[in-house]
Amino acid sequence: KELVFSGVQPTGNLHLGNYLGAIKRFVDMQARDAQCLYCVVDMHAITLWQDPAALKGQIREVTAAFLAAGIDPKRSIVFNQSQVPQHAELAWIFNCVARLGWLNRMTQFKDKAGKDRENASIGLYAYPVLMAADILAYRATHVPVGEDQKQHLELTRDIAQKFNNDFSESISAHGHDAGSGFFPITEPLIGGPAARVMSLRDGTKKMSKSDASDNSRINLTDEADTIAAKVRKAKTDPDALPSEVAGLAGRPEADNLVGIFAALKDVSRDEVLRDYGGAQFSAFKSALVELAVETLAPLGSEMKRLVSDPVEIDAILADGAERAEAIAAPTLDAVKDIVGFVRRG
Ligand code: TYM
Repeated sequence: KELVFSGVQPTGNLHLGNYLGAIKRFVDMQARDAQCLYCVVDMHAITLWQDPAALKGQIREVTAAFLAAGIDPKRSIVFNQSQVPQHAELAWIFNCVARLGWLNRMTQFKDKAGKDRENASIGLYAYPVLMAADILAYRATHVPVGEDQKQHLELTRDIAQKFNNDFSESISAHGHDAGSGFFPITEPLIGGPAARVMSLRDGTKKMSKSDASDNSRINLTDEADTIAAKVRKAKTDPDALPSEVAGLAGRPEADNLVGIFAALKDVSRDEVLRDYGGAQFSAFKSALVELAVETLAPLGSEMKRLVSDPVEIDAILADGAERAEAIAAPTLDAVKDIVGFVRRG
């Protein structure tokens, strides 16, 4: 049976990339006959220093974004990572499975640590191992994410495979099917027209929470007039839109805006170009503003309404944590037996 897991960091400035590349797709996954778990990964957030006074608000804001986007907390499990201790426990065991050489290849660490690598936290380095633990504590089979998480999901697969191999005898001795492996080899779900939403100021850079320019991204809490202004200011080239996708090659800004339009409208780039091929950007941007505002303005105001009642959000997170733990605890019990730990009776 399918089990879907994904996570979002509560590091502020949730943006259109997070929505189209991830959260909107989380909502779509609920239509499948699968248990879905959506996690606010607060332990990942602190791999870079977070202001404690702000972090709680950020955790509630990501939760609010999930709910406002249409994730149903009864059908799916919505929770924050730190309330389920199995994530950290499994991460430690995986730290002893993953190899230094594997982590040394992680490009996100290199980007986030910057030049002063000696001064990066150990947590930032081990970040992808915790991510593997998030996924495999539930033995998740499918993980919807944006393209920037691809390398981390490959590492998750490597860790699962190595654990299954290293402990294969013990896995069978404890009554699990060693053939299919104790941990599944998780399938990343990366795709659609918005797998990689780019900056509105530079079509070769990813839209990101940490870009110094607020005009580079549309935040989920931006007001309608801000959204409109940012789209109108978005970088473009002087040519009209092409009538076929092939014509977007070498035009990163045009490609990005067409991709955003397609994802907001749930159609392909081809379909967008069928309607707008030959159009000037001024006309296309007007249509994009209308579409973006129509989708995002209600989302943003619902998020604001939800965060104004932290008691209700916190109750949803507590309920989700309890249900998540009920799935993760038996996995950890089995893992501890497999590894050979002495257990309390
Ligand atoms: P985070 O918090 O950086 O981003 C959350 C989700 O948004 C996607 N995303 C984008 N998609 C398209 N275009 C963009 N410009 C863009 N920017 C971000 C990300 O790919 C992600 O899906 N490591 C993860 C969080 C995590 C996780 C997990 C995910 C922790 N444990 C287990 C899946 C499974 C992260 O930093 O996401």
